[in-house]
Amino acid sequence: MTSAITTTYNFDQVIERRTTDSIKWKKFGDDVIPMWVADMDFVSAEPVIQALRKRVDHGIFGYGVPSEELRAVIRERLARLYHWRIEDEDLFFSPGLVTGLNVAYQAYAGPGDGVLAQPPVYFHFIKDPGWHGRIVNDPPLVEKGNTYEIDFDRFEKSITPRTKLFVLCNPHNPAGRVYTGNELERLAEICLRHRLVICSDEIHCDLLYPGYQHIPIATLSPEVAERTVTLMAPSKTYNLAGLGCSFIIMKNRVLQEAWKRISFGIVPHVNIMGYVACLAALKHGHDWLEQVLVYLKGNRDFLNQYVTENLPGVRMFKMEATYLAWLDCRGTGIPGNPTEFFLREARVGLNDGTEFGKGGNGFVRLNFACPRSRLREALDRMAAALKRI
Ligand SMILES: Cc1ncc(COP(=O)(O)O)c(C=O)c1O
Repeated sequence: MTSAITTTYNFDQVIERRTTDSIKWKKFGDDVIPMWVADMDFVSAEPVIQALRKRVDHGIFGYGVPSEELRAVIRERLARLYHWRIEDEDLFFSPGLVTGLNVAYQAYAGPGDGVLAQPPVYFHFIKDPGWHGRIVNDPPLVEKGNTYEIDFDRFEKSITPRTKLFVLCNPHNPAGRVYTGNELERLAEICLRHRLVICSDEIHCDLLYPGYQHIPIATLSPEVAERTVTLMAPSKTYNLAGLGCSFIIMKNRVLQEAWKRISFGIVPHVNIMGYVACLAALKHGHDWLEQVLVYLKGNRDFLNQYVTENLPGVRMFKMEATYLAWLDCRGTGIPGNPTEFFLREARVGLNDGTEFGKGGNGFVRLNFACPRSRLREALDRMAAALKRI
């Protein structure tokens, strides 16, 4: 489904966000360019803004439910993109994916049980299980040139008799990988053999660069679907993170019951504005997404070239997806932690690689979903800081 009218978006436009209580823009001082948390400095798709405006004009903001239309649009989208046919009762909603991950830790592993994750990875995969008394089993991804591979042997060996759940991040943040069918099949085969539940975070699945195809792990076979809970959202795709709407697909009735038990009374309903934005984005956000992907690819290629030419000792990993670049700073000669260095010396706010667990030391993560002029300014500042070492 596409919008009737094609709007041309101008992602070069610089928009002030400091006045809007943005977490990204509030974390550091006013002189810092924030390149950290994963939201984009771009205005949302026009049809989303219009739909929200219309809903606000109605003026009554009571409790909401996901509409039949929203459910149908999601089912149609999964069928169209992945030949994935789901039933209405397989579809759940949640304010966020981090909420979903934390429900999974409690629903599918008991205290003292193991949760399997692949660092370096988004920190909620490796930090949060411990908050619930679960143990993290963390066989790291393996650096291979400028990309990462899975060491399947090590992956399997890290499974203990108490490991119950595998949290998959695909596309992977921050490794930038889109797992191939073959990799997913091998992971799924190991998980099935050890009777693990798979919780697959696919939040970045629409932000792929040309040449890559997303495969939801649950689509591999009915057996895999039976053991999988898939988390998806329009929040990264259409830059709607602050509206808190995500959806979950699970076929297995036992997994569904456990999910409901943990969530009931604790996980709030999705915000009515979140539902409105989600529906408008999925129905009419196609032009925006198509255009933002072109712009992001331009930024990725610009960054890649800039790093090679002007940031000596920094190594950028290959990006198959996401707008989150993973930069190895171990060769720079920066004294101490590179994130602290770039904040202090360049006034650029990045994510610290150590947040992502094993393999993150000496790395920074840089969010380049911003106007190119801002990206250039941040990089110029980083280059100047490196020259002063
Ligand atoms: C892999 C991954 N999962 C989840 C999230 C956050 O999801 P939510 O805002 O829906 O909690 C992020 C945000 O960066 C992410 O990268």
